[in-house]
Amino acid sequence: MSEYLPGLEGVPATQSNISDLDGKRGLLTYRGYRIADLAVNSTFEETALLLLDGRLPTHEELEIFDQQLRSNRIVKYNVREIMKYLPATGHPMEMLQTAVASLGMFYQGDDCLTGGAVCQDLNYVHNMSVKIIARMATIVAMWEHVRNGYDPFPPRKDLNYAENLLYMFSGEDPDPLMARIMDASLILHAEHTINASTFAALVAGSTLASPFLVIAAAVGTLAGPLHGGANQRVVEMLEEIGSPANVNAWLDKKLASKSKIWGMGHREYKVKDPRAIILQTLMHELMEHRGGNMGPMFETALALEEACEEKLAPKGVFANVDFYSGILYKEMGIPPDQFTSIFAIARSAGWLAHWREQLGDNRIFRPTQVYTGQSERDYVPIDER
Ligand code: COA
Repeated sequence: MSEYLPGLEGVPATQSNISDLDGKRGLLTYRGYRIADLAVNSTFEETALLLLDGRLPTHEELEIFDQQLRSNRIVKYNVREIMKYLPATGHPMEMLQTAVASLGMFYQGDDCLTGGAVCQDLNYVHNMSVKIIARMATIVAMWEHVRNGYDPFPPRKDLNYAENLLYMFSGEDPDPLMARIMDASLILHAEHTINASTFAALVAGSTLASPFLVIAAAVGTLAGPLHGGANQRVVEMLEEIGSPANVNAWLDKKLASKSKIWGMGHREYKVKDPRAIILQTLMHELMEHRGGNMGPMFETALALEEACEEKLAPKGVFANVDFYSGILYKEMGIPPDQFTSIFAIARSAGWLAHWREQLGDNRIFRPTQVYTGQSERDYVPIDER
């Protein structure tokens, strides 16, 4: 194939049996299971194991995995020391990439990757996956306190993944509804076929880099506003709009200047993102719990989505996963610049499932290009130019 397709649109870059989406019908499945079913019936722990192993676990398998995650939450003291030297004004995704990459220096033993043979050591792959998934939440929540000059709250073994994440942010026992919503949100963000960050993970994985570097590559790729970084921008955008009354004039101005509307549009979905539908339902559930009161941000989001429907739907642009997630995280007291980090925590499960799949049938990614530069020419010495 020599045709160049910008953004590799429509070009299959891998074969995978991890997740599948139907962009016309708005369907997403993990290992064949609908996300709507997983969001209601599963937990992040179970979904992560489903993604890694390819099948729903038994009680016993899930219990073992859950215990492994709980006992792997503590992050080495030296990682906290590294964090202390990072500027508090830096973006949390830059910290996360740094901290995840640094973990690799503490957990070596990647001989099965670098030995030259195909890595068949599933124990190593599983153990590294546990180490990373368990520590992602700790690192993200630790940073919230370290950057504000406080000691972080140590992780608690008696809480599940979502509860512990919320606890580590606030230092308080998590509200059960908030913990359930966080759990559902982690499930919804855990995997999404071959998106930009997963592709970055595959490329890094295909060179047999350590899993920590694979995840660091993916974290860096997720950070951009066209990908996971959009959730932070959605909340900033809604704050800028202020109230539903300002939506139409604001939108007209933005569209006239060809600006992006954050949280809208998707390469694959040409209908509303199924994850956005579920997150919106969770917003309504939270609103009901609070006696119908959700503040102007949610109202503004609903009005903006409605206005976009009229103006962007003809282009196949609808709300994506990032449109409602930030509003939920804000309600949980998480600062906007940490929203993408929460996304990364969840997506680490999907990235690691793809890393494992890539190792199972590895060939280094080395695509080709269409050269558009000068043809061969003679070098001109500097004083003759
Ligand atoms: N706001 C306004 N217009 C948008 C838009 C948005 N968020 N997303 C797409 N469009 C428009 C484009 O301007 C283009 O219009 P044109 O045909 O008149 O030039 C058309 O829809 C097709 O968009 P395109 O940029 O080709 O889509 P893509 O597949 O390359 O990009 C995204 C997909 C996700 C990068 C893009 O929709 C986007 O930037 N969205 C905002 C960022 C975001 O929310 N990212 C999170 C994704 S989960």
